[in-house]
Amino acid sequence: MNLLLYGAPGSGKGTQANMLRTHFGITHVATGDMLRAEIQAGTPLGRQAQPILAAGQYVSDDIMIAMIRNRLRQPDCARGFIMDGFPRTVPQAKALDSLMHTLGRPLDRVIYLKVETDELLRRLSGRLVCPLCQRTYPPATAKCEADGGALVQREDDKAEAVKPRIEVYLHKTVPVLDHYRGAGLVSEIDGRGTIEEISRQVLAAVASPLVGNGKVVSPLAGRSAAKPGGGEDHPGTTTPKAQKA
Ligand code: AP5
Ligand code: MG
Repeated sequence: MNLLLYGAPGSGKGTQANMLRTHFGITHVATGDMLRAEIQAGTPLGRQAQPILAAGQYVSDDIMIAMIRNRLRQPDCARGFIMDGFPRTVPQAKALDSLMHTLGRPLDRVIYLKVETDELLRRLSGRLVCPLCQRTYPPATAKCEADGGALVQREDDKAEAVKPRIEVYLHKTVPVLDHYRGAGLVSEIDGRGTIEEISRQVLAAVASPLVGNGKVVSPLAGRSAAKPGGGEDHPGTTTPKAQKA
């Protein structure tokens, strides 16, 4: 199974990817985690990427496409993967289409975690991460449940980087959703609710057949099914409150 998690910064991609990895036993491919590992290791790519991530901007398409081409050819991706953070631009989406075609492994589903901007800002301002394994946790979590490590704030969760991240998402990544809606692959999940509630909806969406242009047939899809032909309000299309000042 090849799944793609799509959503704004803080929408819960990493959180739900961890759940899916445990549930299906498939590989989690997270480009943000890969870049942070390069930064931590002090590689030339890490040194190049560090100021870009800290400013909330995107690393170039050429670099990211090469990274994913290499990653998806690794043996641990052969049984399937959960992609998190890629593609973030239409050229990246087209490159992924072509790569999946070459590998003979189609993308099965795009799960869109739809969360309003105020909630994204709230989640990102309090989020904690484990620097060892990159798992993310809600505010006030004491330590990493996987390795007991002390948790820290991500550099790009500081206030000055969060707004640019959401702006660049709206400008460059929202069109990626239309790319996949056109291919009829999108299951839309209303991201309000507890992590456990969202996980149940994600699993139900993955198990549901897609019908027509991305419309999901699911017992839980009543309030979350994609509107045929698109036309939804994307997160942040209204000016975030924090930006009005
Ligand atoms: P990346 O690491 O992918 O960051 P992101 O997309 O900004 O997303 P986040 O990891 O911040 O959020 P998430 O959706 O994973 O949410 P999470 O589960 O943690 O990328 C970082 C940077 O790398 C980019 O800005 C860019 O510079 C670069 N980059 C990466 N890929 C690139 C690419 N393809 N092209 C170019 N550049 C690239 O949840 C957030 C918080 O909310 C957590 O505390 C969590 O516990 C909590 N939470 C989750 N679900 C819920 C819920 N239902 N209710 C309450 N709280 C919840
Ligand atoms: Mg993440």
